[in-house]
Amino acid sequence: MGAAQQNTASPEPGGGCTPNVFGGMVTRTVGPRPWGRWRDVRAANTKEDEGVSASEVLVTGGTGSLGHRVVDRLRGPGYEVRTLSRSARGAGVVRGDLQTGEGLARALEGVDVLIHCASSPRKPRQTDVGGTGHLLEAAGRAGVSHVVFVSIVGVDRNPYPPYYRAKLESEKIVERSPVPWTILRATQFHGFALKQIRLLERLPVMMAPRGFLLQPMDIGEVADRMVELALSEPSGRVPDIGGPEVRALPDLARSYLKASGRRRRIVEVPVPGKAARALREGAQLAPGQTYGEIRWEEFLDGTLRSGFHGTGRKKLA
Ligand SMILES: NC(=O)c1ccc[n+]([C@@H]2O[C@H](COP(=O)([O-])OP(=O)(O)OC[C@H]3O[C@@H](n4cnc5c(N)ncnc54)[C@H](OP(=O)(O)O)[C@@H]3O)[C@@H](O)[C@H]2O)c1
Repeated sequence: MGAAQQNTASPEPGGGCTPNVFGGMVTRTVGPRPWGRWRDVRAANTKEDEGVSASEVLVTGGTGSLGHRVVDRLRGPGYEVRTLSRSARGAGVVRGDLQTGEGLARALEGVDVLIHCASSPRKPRQTDVGGTGHLLEAAGRAGVSHVVFVSIVGVDRNPYPPYYRAKLESEKIVERSPVPWTILRATQFHGFALKQIRLLERLPVMMAPRGFLLQPMDIGEVADRMVELALSEPSGRVPDIGGPEVRALPDLARSYLKASGRRRRIVEVPVPGKAARALREGAQLAPGQTYGEIRWEEFLDGTLRSGFHGTGRKKLA
């Protein structure tokens, strides 16, 4: 299907999510549940059914928090998965840099499906905007048949932070590309919320922005949906996905303190500016489109018990 034929409508929050093919048994990355039903989705979509022995998939950002989970889910019979990285080494890793475009042609040789998770909030203009441009140009030349891009819920409603603006521009680069595409926007990952809270925790009193609304989501559930989309036909902009509940940041911080056994006073502070107002007004939410089932407390339980406090980023050996 060509990009021009794709659904480019922007689904509104509350407009209904696509049915969860996992039938409510979404895979979890925390808690006791094993890997779930995405394997069935993969089996149902395997290219072997179409007479092709193995489908080449390239995952940019495959060393990152989301990307490595996507890679893990895709590895196995029927799919050859490559990871693009500037510095990692190991089986299946191809060196390349989105900013310069170096290594992209080689990384994309013979690739059928491209899953674009690489990003840099510190250098969004160079990596996200410039890098997505380089990547899509190279993908077009290589004859890639489907690119799946992950974005963030509300980047159009809250385009004030430079990073969100860059994500929105990156979406447009994907949409204009000749490569058939799918774009998925997800709400903030649990690990992102945890990182913000741990930054607030550095002061003796936690100065939590008043009224910031988040809908944190399990990163493994986002990876599930990315894989599901990558194994389907290009679908244009698909409905946003979000976590199971909308929570105010100070409330998440309180739960964090309780779960970690820490004592700290939380003071809710008003934050000025357009970006802050958008966050208070729920620009970052997809309330009618809950896909994730894992709640914040469940994430904290699994994460703090394992002594892990970061964003889940894993470097390939
Ligand atoms: N965090 C959230 O709450 C959230 C919510 C919704 C959507 N998202 C989106 O999810 C995606 C993944 O986020 P994440 O938190 O998993 O990212 P992450 O852990 O920070 O990983 C970033 C990845 O980007 C790669 N990268 C950075 N600069 C690069 C360059 N110049 N060339 C090639 N690769 C480069 C890195 O690979 P190397 O270092 O190995 O080169 C790394 O694998 C992003 O697009 C983000 O916008 C995030």
